[in-house]
Amino acid sequence: MLAGFREAGQRIDRLGQFVPRISVIHGPRGIGKTSLLREGQRILETNRTRTVWITADPGELLLQTLLNELGKALGSRTKLTRRAVRHIESVSVEIGNAAVGKVSTVVKADARPAAGSSSGRLIDAITSALDAIRAEGDSGIAILIDEIQEADDAGLRTLAYAWQELAACSGADIARAALFAVGLPGAPAHINRAVSFSERFQCESLDGLDDDGVRDALVGPADWLDVAWDDRALGVAVAESEGYPHKVQLVGDSAWRAGCVRVGGDGLAPGHSITVVDVQQALTRVGEEMNTLHRFRWNAASPRQREILVAMARLGGLAVKRSRLAEELDADTRAISIPRQALLDKGIVGADGHGQMSFTVPGFTEFVLARAKEE
Ligand SMILES: Nc1ncnc2c1ncn2[C@@H]1O[C@H](COP(=O)(O)OP(=O)(O)OP(=O)(O)O)[C@@H](O)[C@H]1O
Ligand SMILES: [Mg+2]
Repeated sequence: MLAGFREAGQRIDRLGQFVPRISVIHGPRGIGKTSLLREGQRILETNRTRTVWITADPGELLLQTLLNELGKALGSRTKLTRRAVRHIESVSVEIGNAAVGKVSTVVKADARPAAGSSSGRLIDAITSALDAIRAEGDSGIAILIDEIQEADDAGLRTLAYAWQELAACSGADIARAALFAVGLPGAPAHINRAVSFSERFQCESLDGLDDDGVRDALVGPADWLDVAWDDRALGVAVAESEGYPHKVQLVGDSAWRAGCVRVGGDGLAPGHSITVVDVQQALTRVGEEMNTLHRFRWNAASPRQREILVAMARLGGLAVKRSRLAEELDADTRAISIPRQALLDKGIVGADGHGQMSFTVPGFTEFVLARAKEE
């Protein structure tokens, strides 16, 4: 997946191109979306691509946040950048006023904005930012959006129109820009609802790590400090992490702490190893933390959504087909579509390209079955 960031960076920097595809990577909570986007940011920046990072927030308008961060990405080093920042601020005010004025009107999902519209103004702002960035020696710009499922419909629509229009530019007008977003499994459906021509958005799901990925994640940070993992310890840690990045982090951190307690003094130092005893000690704390995480998810689900969780758990919790789920609940597939979508929106479950649902947090199937017995 990092290849997409590399390719975009090279297209912008070496080929002077616009990247028309809007990449949306989605996955449940704790699967590593923000970390992936941060790594992508680093790759883009090594390709002289200035990045604008935004975290969509239900309390803010996407475009306002975007324009705000776009201005900050420029700084105030030259006359040109200061002028671009003032321009972006004025666009932000205009769009803000337009949004306030429109609160009471119903905006049709497929209505194309008129000329001089917010998408046109957004393009102006991006173009002035690009001029300033080029003058400072960088090649282009990449917009990175975290938590895209929280973005407002109008903001998404405007951004999509702007991207559509930028894709049509040629010659000297080519905007050297790329757009990447990450969000919860409900993000593709949210985007489809907000933007009628959502083909430009290319959605891809982010899965957990394979064993080699987990091994690298555990060994790498210890290695920088010349601390080794002994083989048995690593084997148990990899098996226990079950490819879920959040759990990898917990296992690694807790085993390190247990090792520090075992050696005493200033803790683990160059030449020391993490042992299987450290990992076994760590697992108690990991178990407690995972239990808290399971409880949060369970508590966030409504009674109807819990019924779906229980049915999924009974069916094994992995790659559960919509039709099988409906059968288990003795319901029509249409009748379960709303609570099913809500679970995706909340990031409690993930879905693959065929709409099959899975629990991605290790141990959640067992947790749900135990809760079902209690209630
Ligand atoms: N490739 C990886 N290898 C090891 N650990 C990772 C990897 N990616 C992420 N992590 C760790 O997993 C945890 C969750 O990562 P991150 O915050 O990026 O997930 P997220 O999908 O953005 O979660 P959320 O939906 O809650 O925002 C973090 O502690 C992070 O350091
Ligand atoms: Mg995140």
